[in-house]
Amino acid sequence: MLILGIESSCDDTAAAVYDGENDRLLSSVLSSQHGIHSQFGGVVPELASRQHLKAVHPMVVEALDRAEVGFEDIQLIAVTQGPGLIGSLLVGFSYAKALAYRLGIPCVGVDHLAGHILSVFLEDEKPAFPFIALTVSGGTSSLFLAESYTSFKHLGRTRDDAAGEAFDKVAKLLGLPYPGGPEVSKKAVNGDRDAISFPRAWLEEDSLDFSFSGVKTAVLNYHNQCKQKKQPVNVEDVCASFQEAVVDVLTQKTLLAAARHRIKTVVLGGGVSANARLREVMGDRCQAQGCELFVARPAFCADNAAMIALAGYHLFRLEKTLQLEEDVFSRSKLG
Ligand code: KG4
Repeated sequence: MLILGIESSCDDTAAAVYDGENDRLLSSVLSSQHGIHSQFGGVVPELASRQHLKAVHPMVVEALDRAEVGFEDIQLIAVTQGPGLIGSLLVGFSYAKALAYRLGIPCVGVDHLAGHILSVFLEDEKPAFPFIALTVSGGTSSLFLAESYTSFKHLGRTRDDAAGEAFDKVAKLLGLPYPGGPEVSKKAVNGDRDAISFPRAWLEEDSLDFSFSGVKTAVLNYHNQCKQKKQPVNVEDVCASFQEAVVDVLTQKTLLAAARHRIKTVVLGGGVSANARLREVMGDRCQAQGCELFVARPAFCADNAAMIALAGYHLFRLEKTLQLEEDVFSRSKLG
């Protein structure tokens, strides 16, 4: 069965063709809007929706071309239904429903977080269920117990800023370009992780929730204090110390979740999981706890339509198809 995946939840318009039965990805293409939003230091929702409108059809045509198939070969459309920016979601969602109606084929609505949890299945080495999944991106920081391709228990979530959002805001404060995560991690390479002791929000004892607004504010305060004292800000040290605080909390809580549920497999997903220090510390801590870590390549960690096609295929097998009148949603409905 050939599935056309469509993703437009934030600032990337993506399309992919995936062969579900043979577990083969035939194409995956993406049109990034970073150039449009970078001048504003963050995503401008109105501009994002307008850009999706321009890009969605060309991306779908390109995905089909690269897969060397036509519209008539597609048997299912899988589209991101939420969470995300409503205007952005509506573009891909309306396009997908209209195309499915025109082609007379079913359409499934996929939760974007399910895509991130399952993106690792796009790689050759696949984890076995059950596993603990940490999904960290610009819009989410969540821990899940994944029991199957379609069953996820939400164990913890961010109470304020998502990890990627904190990276982006800290980068903006330090005058680094958007998106800030890759820039902060580049600067951190030459910085001292122990130079500044930024706070870690552990929350209540044993809580699996996250909070990153405190560490972000601590960076702001540190920055302002340096300016008041007319001291230079060592951007590399700030980046390394900030990154270490975020990575410390993400990794410790993930391993706590694994221990609590007696799980020996950990999966990382979402744009922030491209972070080299997060991968390194998570790898070390998993090894120390006897867990195996699975992470997709960076292109599949970030937003993409291949993960949506794969997740959609498994939903379709449960006959979870969309009705024409269904709508998008801004908050995840998982677990
Ligand atoms: O998953 P994604 O592409 O889109 C969302 O669904 O949000 O994630 C984008 C987020 C941005 O906040 C970006 O700054 C962050 O992932 N990010 C990183 C890195 N690469 C991307 N954060 C830290 N380190 C990185 N290397």
